[in-house]
Parts: sequence; structure tokens; C-alpha cells
Amino acid sequence: MAFPKRVRLVEVGPRDGLQNEPNPIHTATKLELIDRLGAAGIRYIEAASFVSPKWVPQMADHREVMTGLMRRQGVTYAALTPNLKGLEAALECGVEEVAVFGAASEAFSQKNINCSVAESLERFAPVLERAREANVRVRGYVSCVLGCPYEGEIAPAKVAEVSKALYEMGCYEVSLGDTIGVGTPLAAKRMIEAVSRDIPMERLAAHFHDTYGQALANLYAVLEEGIGVVDSSVAGLGGCPYAKGASGNVASEDVVYLLNGLGIETGIDLDKLAETGTWITQTIGRPNRSKVGVALAAK
Ligand code: HMG
Ligand code: MG
Repeated sequence: MAFPKRVRLVEVGPRDGLQNEPNPIHTATKLELIDRLGAAGIRYIEAASFVSPKWVPQMADHREVMTGLMRRQGVTYAALTPNLKGLEAALECGVEEVAVFGAASEAFSQKNINCSVAESLERFAPVLERAREANVRVRGYVSCVLGCPYEGEIAPAKVAEVSKALYEMGCYEVSLGDTIGVGTPLAAKRMIEAVSRDIPMERLAAHFHDTYGQALANLYAVLEEGIGVVDSSVAGLGGCPYAKGASGNVASEDVVYLLNGLGIETGIDLDKLAETGTWITQTIGRPNRSKVGVALAAK
């Protein structure tokens, strides 16, 4: 299969990137980050997470973030909503799109959202129903698609089964998360092949963390399979609080550089994006994990 002509980037930095930061980050900093990402040409930003503040304290200001952000035309500002309580709060804040998040691993599901995979799907059904009523689209995440911190290897068939359930429930897109960044290109290809037997390729997204340094290689492999939506995080920020040792998402700057080189359009201004990566890492005192960002800053 040929590479897609255009790839849509889903910027998860303000959510996945920041959720694991131990020190409180000012709401104003989050808002500036979201605005700078929009100014760099990102058209889809996961801005907040309507989860329990006891579980993820860094996302406790979800209402302030969602109502405080300056909406740019053509940009979708989305949020995670694990249950009806989260969805109702997000709707009150004028959210345009939401995401539910499940897993291909039972143990991870328990640790992350305190229920089994089957229970999580039961919980998501009314979320999708209510979102449909409110005219809000729902994205579905599946975590641990290339390995689990508790269970180890995960069968592609299990990933396909959970993805299919989310898709059939009404998720317009299913984002496949290598939560702990253990995947390698052949495994990524096999997983995508299994999932795309039930779901059209254009309804799938790749959400790869870079813990073992394989994320770009894995992306290249699944782009070849026809994946056209990529989740990434500016400066490679992030990690999941319920996946110990997991590092950030693949860096948005690195993905844009790769796609530029392949002649694949993104509509993103790489210099502005890299400046945003430099700014946010300096502001929160973190190393910049984008090689492209570091290289451009050194010029
Ligand atoms: P629970 O304890 O089973 O839920 O948590 P509960 O319904 O029994 O409620 C317990 C308490 O939480 C109650 O408060 C509720 O009101 C409150 P209390 O009476 O104790 O004061 N609560 C909420 N508060 C705010 N917003 C809500 C909400 N729901 C309940 N929506 C729950 C279940 C799902 C809430 C919890 O497990 C949770 O918040 N988990 C979040 C975990 C999380 O955010 N993980 C990171 C995101 S996933 C990820 O990073 C992976 C991804 O990037 C893809 C990948 O990389 O693979 C997406
Ligand atoms: Mg993630």
C-alpha cells in the first residue's frame, strides 16, 4: 500500500504530555501551550482530561482549561471522558469532541480505570449515547496494543476485538496505543493488519510512545500500511501514570519532520512547533525529547 498523501496529527501534549507531571502546572501555562500549538497549525488538540482528580491530580483544572482556551477556527479541542460524569462536565464546558479509553489488557484496565475490559465497554455505551444526543463525536483509545506493563505480550486478536467493540459502539476513530512504547515495526504492522480486518484503515490512528526509541520506526511501518492519523506530543512530553516507566509520546516535531521528508502534507509549521517545544520544556523544567526540536533550537 502507498503512503497517505496527507496525515492528520492529533496533538496530545496538553493531556498525555502533562498528565504525569508531578509538580502542578499553572492553568495559564496549559492555555498558552494549547494556543501556541494552534498557532503552529495543529488542527486537533487533546486539551484536557475529565477524570478523577484523585487519580490524576495534574488534570484537576480540566474545567478551567476547557472553558479558558481561546478557540481558533478550524481547530478541534477534545478531552478524555471515561464515564458519564466526565462527559457531562465536559459538555458543560463546551467540549467539541471527547474520547473514551479502554485497553487490550485486563490488568491495565483495572489499574487505569478500575474495571475490567468488559465493564469498561459497558460504561462507555451510555457515554457514546449521551455524546450522540449532544452531537459530540467520540474517539476510542485502546491501550497496551503492543504490550502491557503487567501482562507482557498482547495478542493482536485481543486488540482487534476491543477495537471492533469501540468502533461498533460508535467511536468514529480508534486510536491504537503502544502505551509503554515496547513495540517494534513488524509487530506494529501485524497489529494494524489484524485490527484493519474489522475497521477501515482511515478510521484508525497510531498512538505510539517512545520509551524504547522505536516510535518513529513503528510509525513508518504503519504509514506504509495506510495509517493516516498520528497522535503525538510536542517535545515528546509525557507518560501514563498507570504504566510505570513509560515515557512520552513520539515527539510531534519528529513526526512532522519525518512526514515532510516523505512528502506527506500536515499543514503544520515545523519551526513554530519546535519553538513551542523549546518554550514548554523550559517553562516546566523538562528535557526536550524531540531530536528535531533540539537540532532546530541549536541552529
Ligand atoms: P472509580 O474510583 O472506579 O470511580 O474510578 P467511581 O465512579 O467509584 O468514583 C470514585 C470517585 O471519583 C468519586 O469521588 C467520583 O465522584 C469521582 P468521591 O466520591 O470519592 O469524592 N469521579 C470523577 N471525578 C471527576 N471526573 C470524573 C469522575 N468519575 C468519578 N470523570 C475512574 C474510575 C475512571 C473515574 C478513575 O479510574 C479515573 O479517573 N481514572 C483515570 C485514569 C487516567 O486518567 N489515566 C490516564 C489516561 S489514559 C492514557 O494515558 C492512555 C492513552 O494515552 C492511550 C495510550 O497511551 O495507551 C489514552
Ligand atoms: Mg498515551
